[in-house]
Amino acid sequence: MKDKKIIITIDGYSSCGKSTLALQLAQSLNYIFIDSGAMYRAITLYFLQHNMDSHKSEDITRALNQIHLSFLKNPDSKKSDILLNGENVEKLIREMKVSEQVSQVASIAEVRAFAVSQQKEMGLQKGVVMEGRDIGTTVFPNAELKIFLLADMHTRILRRYDELKKITPGISIDEVRKNIEHRDYLDSHREISPLRKADDAKILDNTHLTLEEELDIVLAWANKIIRDE
Ligand code: DC
Repeated sequence: MKDKKIIITIDGYSSCGKSTLALQLAQSLNYIFIDSGAMYRAITLYFLQHNMDSHKSEDITRALNQIHLSFLKNPDSKKSDILLNGENVEKLIREMKVSEQVSQVASIAEVRAFAVSQQKEMGLQKGVVMEGRDIGTTVFPNAELKIFLLADMHTRILRRYDELKKITPGISIDEVRKNIEHRDYLDSHREISPLRKADDAKILDNTHLTLEEELDIVLAWANKIIRDE
């Protein structure tokens, strides 16, 4: 029997390793990987670049009318880089000034409607691994496999610090900790589709797992569904 294509969602707090797992999983299954947070980051970058106020409704409407988001496969990282109006902003969106604003921007109803409708479209063909905060609850509530990823706070801070110090030399562990705690709070307390585990999501805590072990567990879950075992 031919394997069926499914949708896999990975949700969880910041810096739990969602992107790393999603990318590996997508490569193993020959699926498309989508980092939905990159879309909220690119929208935030647009506000910053154009001195627009994300608290003003006319600025929000104007910005969303001017923003076009797309993804382009990067042959080096094997990921897809995000393009904002045709410009590759994959590096810029990872900077601290974007991280500091993104949770506020991602809490705006119009911004979420804009991003979620594009995300839903990307799932029409199936064969997708999408990671974020509300993918299993809002974007793909009928996904065949939903994962809620956890890692302890200390591990998350160190992982993000290692990533950030390459692009923001001089950044301190304390700044990274504060940003993660702040985003955790805003992402899980916002009014519209806050971060929460979907009722039918499987919990996976990767604190003490190697990437290989983590991938083995998730591939076993996925293959069971794909092969109808
Ligand atoms: O995964 P990330 O850290 O790059 O996400 C950046 C921010 O975007 C995060 O703080 C919350 C928001 N986000 C969201 O609200 N919904 C998603 N599906 C993905 C990200």
